[in-house]
Amino acid sequence: MLQIVDMMYSYTDYNTVLEDVNLDFEQGKLYAILGKSGCGKTTMLSLLGGLDSPRKGKILYNGTDIREYGLDRHRQDHAAFIFQGYNLIEYMTVKENVALTAKLPVEEALEKVGLSKELWDRNVLKLSGGQQQRVAIARGIASNKPILLADEPTGNLDEDTAKDILALLKKSAHEEGRCVIMVTHSSALAQEADVLCEFQDKHFVAKEAADENRS
Ligand SMILES: Nc1ncnc2c1ncn2[C@@H]1O[C@H](COP(=O)(O)OP(=O)(O)O)[C@@H](O)[C@H]1O
Ligand SMILES: [Mg+2]
Repeated sequence: MLQIVDMMYSYTDYNTVLEDVNLDFEQGKLYAILGKSGCGKTTMLSLLGGLDSPRKGKILYNGTDIREYGLDRHRQDHAAFIFQGYNLIEYMTVKENVALTAKLPVEEALEKVGLSKELWDRNVLKLSGGQQQRVAIARGIASNKPILLADEPTGNLDEDTAKDILALLKKSAHEEGRCVIMVTHSSALAQEADVLCEFQDKHFVAKEAADENRS
């Protein structure tokens, strides 16, 4: 579905962040992008989401170069983002936040992420971090984009809540057939993914999880 071909990226002329990146992402799978702070994980995700273009090489969506398709169209049609800081609109309620970009029924998405009805009309700032991240995932699901890009989505959450959020992302991949790509620096969380893309020498190397790890 999404393919990175011979990609190189640098912010400046002197400092290459990513080099020789070749990766394939399929629908229906959860991918973890793993690496230490500053290695280029967020950069990878922004390139996949069409926020920027590779310096060399290309990114294909179903065989079409996203630069030719148009980066803004790629974002609109294909990719939804989930961030560590939730990025919800603070003066709006749960339902209103999801409705803004929804193409699928809002209430179904809220039910899928396990937010109880009494929270739906509440201002999002009156929710816990884990609940806010559930709203952000519901927003992603309801926008009905084939790719979900999550940048350290559990970075602000305790361990148990982080596991719940990870389970939701996995469910969205397996049950709704999305391609879910999650950045993390936690190798424990990354082990739960179907495919692990680990940073090595300026690029990410993919490794399929052993079958017994998957659920
Ligand atoms: N806008 C920018 N301009 C220049 N350098 C940047 C910019 N954003 C990130 N970098 C550098 O690129 C490298 C990768 O950053 P990033 O992708 O944010 O890492 P990660 O998400 O893995 O922590 C880092 O060395 C960082 O300092
Ligand atoms: Mg980052």
